[in-house]
Amino acid sequence: MARPETRFACRSCGHEALAWTGRCPGCGEWNTLAERTVGRRGSGARRSAASEAPRAVPLHEVAAPDVARLETGIGELDRVLGGGIVPGSLVLLGGSPGIGKSTVGAMALGNLAASRRRTLYVSGEESAAQVRLRAERLGERALAVPMIAETGLGAVLAALEAERPEVCVVDSVQTLHADEASGTPGSVAQVREAATALMESAKRLDVAVILVGHVTKEGSLAGPRALEHLVDCVLMFEGERERSYRTLRALKNRFGATSEVAVFEMRSGGLIEVADPSARFVGEATAAPGSCVLCAMEGTRPLLVEVQALVAPTEIVPPRRIATGIDRNRLSLVVAVLARHAAISLASADVFVNVAGGVRVEEPGADLAIAMALASAHRGEPLREGSGQPRACFGEIGLTGELRHVAHPERRVAEALKFGLGSVIGPPASEPIDGLDGHPSFDRALRATFTPKMRKAA
Ligand code: TYD
Ligand code: MG
Repeated sequence: MARPETRFACRSCGHEALAWTGRCPGCGEWNTLAERTVGRRGSGARRSAASEAPRAVPLHEVAAPDVARLETGIGELDRVLGGGIVPGSLVLLGGSPGIGKSTVGAMALGNLAASRRRTLYVSGEESAAQVRLRAERLGERALAVPMIAETGLGAVLAALEAERPEVCVVDSVQTLHADEASGTPGSVAQVREAATALMESAKRLDVAVILVGHVTKEGSLAGPRALEHLVDCVLMFEGERERSYRTLRALKNRFGATSEVAVFEMRSGGLIEVADPSARFVGEATAAPGSCVLCAMEGTRPLLVEVQALVAPTEIVPPRRIATGIDRNRLSLVVAVLARHAAISLASADVFVNVAGGVRVEEPGADLAIAMALASAHRGEPLREGSGQPRACFGEIGLTGELRHVAHPERRVAEALKFGLGSVIGPPASEPIDGLDGHPSFDRALRATFTPKMRKAA
């Protein structure tokens, strides 16, 4: 008979080791390894050594019931979820503190309650009175949601059993305390135990659970990150607390696409869906040197955002490269391409690049707009058309300075035209696109754009 295996798991980071050591190899903490017997977690499986082999069936014979989704009444949230919440699913809603997780949870439950769905709000973070104060700001619907203020995992599970809600928000997973697991609330062991138990209940009772999880910028991601493989869907709320725009995107979705992004604005009465974010961002765009409109694609939707750059002489070595809303590595690449292929050296300049409105763009198609904004800032020359409108760009820049194709050029150009931004600079298209000013390389695009005589006709 096989010997039960023992492992040593870190109470702080969840790292597993075969032998005990004083210091966890995963996170470097001292005295955090604790013994655990492998197989304990899978006790629900009830499988003995003598169990029969299950019969494999072709996928087309597998029953796939067409489940109706629970619509939260927040159109953008439903879209990111892939058409609403799937009954019995586990959704992790992550984001930094103050971003609006509790608000969106309370609003969604309020709408669901108004459409006669059974709901439950579990608050481990705030008292019932505090939750009520928020609900008062959100209105009648949010006030109708039943709630409990509880941090004990056992009590929360009992409440699920007793109330049998269809949708439950647990705010937050880091505050839950499981007696069975070691560590303080919020530690990986605790968070995992809580999520596993909640998932078991969710599937058994057909309760959709939205787990709220804090993610801080510094990297105490450990908690929610450890859950990503467990849950059905991971939604991430992003944006800056000081700004009113927030984006919600799916990082993982077993029931839908992961490329969809929703844009919200925080107002005094809660989160408002921004149905036409391009209009907002283009409306706010300046035509000053260093500004360039980017035709981005967020999932299936084109989105116009303003990329701003500042180039300032500096004595600091190495100079600063600060990126907000774009990937820092992409910025480094673009700065290198500018130096090597366009003779724009920023070696003795601090460089700041920012996507206005607090939006985050994560696609290589942003390269050209970053480069154009930097070139414009460097030359002190605005990037605009004859009409005074800011110019729009898209395209990936390769290491040899070539402009590379990105997905959906026609939709990007169409979005720019819709908002009065003609002649979009981009890579050449395989089929002609009205309004696209295509160039094979960054250098060519730059020369065509910043030569006033050549641009007059635009
Ligand atoms: P909250 O949902 O509590 O954030 P999280 O749960 O992610 O920590 O709300 C965040 C901020 O939103 C908070 O500073 C107050 C503000 N807010 C509004 O501006 N308007 C509102 O209607 C509500 C409810 C909150
Ligand atoms: Mg909260």
